[in-house]
Amino acid sequence: MSMIYSRIVGTGSYLPEKALTNDDLSRMVETSDEWIQSRTGIRKRYIAAADQNTSDLALIAAQRALESAQLQVDTIDLIVLATTTPEMIFPSTATIVQEKLGMTNGAAAFDVQAVCSGFLYALATADSMIRNGMAKRALVIGAELMSRILNWEDRKTCVLFGDGAGALILEASETPGILSSHLHADGRYRDILQANGRIQNGTIHGTPYIEMEGSQVFRFAVRVLAEAVQEALDNNGLKVSDIDWLVPHQANLRIMDATARKLQMPSQKMINMVGDQANTSAASIPLAIDAGARNHSFKANQLLALAAVGGGFTWGATLLRW
Ligand code: UT7
Repeated sequence: MSMIYSRIVGTGSYLPEKALTNDDLSRMVETSDEWIQSRTGIRKRYIAAADQNTSDLALIAAQRALESAQLQVDTIDLIVLATTTPEMIFPSTATIVQEKLGMTNGAAAFDVQAVCSGFLYALATADSMIRNGMAKRALVIGAELMSRILNWEDRKTCVLFGDGAGALILEASETPGILSSHLHADGRYRDILQANGRIQNGTIHGTPYIEMEGSQVFRFAVRVLAEAVQEALDNNGLKVSDIDWLVPHQANLRIMDATARKLQMPSQKMINMVGDQANTSAASIPLAIDAGARNHSFKANQLLALAAVGGGFTWGATLLRW
């Protein structure tokens, strides 16, 4: 019997209309374009309108992915949506997107929460469900409204994040496809990046805003991203020089550059969108993949290495053939 893999057959993404520049931010908190660019590589980020919710961003990304795959919604039998900023306590944002897409075929739909690594967790989940025969075609989405959980008076965090969504269609195939995924977490580090607020009997306890120990997060991220890529390569008998494109979570250009340097990869092989989009958490990898697909950077059979790290702490890497 031949092996079953899952392959990407469509991509889409969406960024809200309103861009917020570093200069705009310097009128809100004590910061400067020079500080933000030199520390993070970020020039601007997109902020959703007040009446847009997580599912609205996800919906447009999903519709664009379906369009690029030339598929009707009812041919999808699984939706996995990664988000740090779900639309509501329940139901899942995935089911809200399902309804807005007009899907009535009873496809499974659920959310995955692994913060900035969420998309890799969602992709690995959909890939394993396709490989074991539970699904044939999956819509995998990363969608975030980070602007809603930022303290706009905290310059250490509010300059770093943005809103957006990206989506991929994965399909069962006899040719790879996703080669393997390697996911990790270590909950001992959960308090260096968190929004610990929780609702109890109608009242928020803790803080609903992101709090971060920036330099600890930085050191942790640089260590695990390169390790995870190396682990994925070793698992497949491949070398760093086999990678055509590194698609890291777009947290911060210094973290991304340090990862490429650790792997001894030329920076031209790294997809870099962080300057124009900032950190969109679980949406950053599908946004980057959609950009690489649409500008024809990725060629058939090329090797992509995806790598992410986020709150929890969670991290991981995925290797795939385009
Ligand atoms: O998915 C993971 C998400 N997280 C990340 O990507 C963040 C990882 N961490 C980082 O990228 C860096 O730690 C930061 C960019 C957040 C901060 O850079 P840093 O070089 O580690 O700066 P720092 O936190 O050590 O702060 C240096 C100074 C401080 O002033 P004092 O105490 O030395 O007077 C900060 O108050 O920079 C100050 N500062 C700012 N100044 C202007 C912090 N944020 C800002 C700001 N504008 N936005």
